[in-house]
Amino acid sequence: MDAAPPTDPDLLEKVINLAKRRGFIFPSAEIYGGFRSTYDYGPLGVNMLRNVKQAWWHSMVQLRDDIVGLDAAILGPPAVWAASGHLETFTDPLVDCRKCKERWRQDKIDGVCPNCGSTEFTEPRAFNLMFKTQAGPVEGEGAVAYLRPETAQGIFTNFANVLSSTRKKPPFGIAQIGKSFRNEITPQNFVFRTREFEQMEMEYFVPPADAEKWYRYWIGVRYDWYVDLGIKPEQLRLHEHAQEDLSHYSKGTTDVEFAFPWGWDELEGVANRGDYDLTQHSNASGTRLEYFDQGSNERYIPYTIEPAAGATRAMMAFLLAAYHEDVVEGETRAVLRLDWRLAPNQVAVLPLSKKPELETVAREVLSALQAHFMCDYDVTQSIGRRYRRQDEVGTPYCVTVDFATLDDRAVTVRERDSTDQTRVKIDELVADLRRRTNQS
Ligand code: GAP
Repeated sequence: MDAAPPTDPDLLEKVINLAKRRGFIFPSAEIYGGFRSTYDYGPLGVNMLRNVKQAWWHSMVQLRDDIVGLDAAILGPPAVWAASGHLETFTDPLVDCRKCKERWRQDKIDGVCPNCGSTEFTEPRAFNLMFKTQAGPVEGEGAVAYLRPETAQGIFTNFANVLSSTRKKPPFGIAQIGKSFRNEITPQNFVFRTREFEQMEMEYFVPPADAEKWYRYWIGVRYDWYVDLGIKPEQLRLHEHAQEDLSHYSKGTTDVEFAFPWGWDELEGVANRGDYDLTQHSNASGTRLEYFDQGSNERYIPYTIEPAAGATRAMMAFLLAAYHEDVVEGETRAVLRLDWRLAPNQVAVLPLSKKPELETVAREVLSALQAHFMCDYDVTQSIGRRYRRQDEVGTPYCVTVDFATLDDRAVTVRERDSTDQTRVKIDELVADLRRRTNQS
């Protein structure tokens, strides 16, 4: 196994701190002491998470004519999860430490209790990771529902609906972004593994004979997506699962892994699910989930290639990859070198002082920019401090309105990474920033 490239040993702590302090990610229900590894996305975090999802949707749906979107329900009846195999096999082996009574995932502890060091455990028991709830006011078997543990099944159960409403034919895909829920026994590492998280999944339906080709294709496309958004190739690797490690549905799985501070770990899995899901749901529901090829007069169940990513996990990787410290004007600064498409704000408008005549022009500039970019507006503290604050949250451009602006109707545009400053006419500002962000 190749070792992950070394990172600053304090990187994780620094990013968690920054995320809390600057309003990216807060521990959930914190005023009540927090709640079991759940997190809330603050004013900057919600922008960034939306940007991650938008970047995925843009590349997977908007730029393609072979993929359509879907937003299926989170609550589902047991029949779906029986057919998908989750009721029976979506389990972790659990053991209890006989000494301190802590409960652990057996496959994560190497036979030693991480809490007290004991090696005495109960026999392992299977623990299903799905959250069970009840739909409607009457309890009982008929009311049982589950929160989805993956978005994928809503795609398979809508296969026939999408096929008949869009007239797509293989190869074609259905993409979905949304929350999934797993009662993880050992949630850990900030938002890396949580009980409530967001997935970005796409099921690509292909003629069985072409499955291997498309499996390889999607591994490449998904790897490139992370690189395009600023993760360095040396921080990524592909890890193909051995046959014996494959999930119950998979004919082949390759993970895109990221060099997290604790080592290589999964960002996304690309799987060849064969005809497992469509066959299971066809058999269980009595609805034929297949494709009739009028050209060849052939009826077949397509194979599914699935790139399955985590939006919240990807956001964490983008934050870790973007975090840098450098020295500007003799002072160490923390800077998030986020791609402009992911940055919570793309532009900050900063009047040099609170003088009303400057604020009037600055607000004019702000309104012109807001139609095109997510913007921040900040009048507090010295201009140097304000630049540092924007650097720390990854804002790619600061626009400073100063006293000269009142005469020349121009502003200073400061670029985050180089700290280069350029004078730009207010009338040309939108076009200038659109050019800098490759939008025109
Ligand atoms: N439909 C296939 C599927 O769900 P998975 O590997 O279990 O496959 C796909 O999940 C992705 O979802 C993972 O690569 C990860 O990015 C994200 N993910 C899974 N469980 C997660 C959790 N507990 N917390 C955060 N993200 C998670």
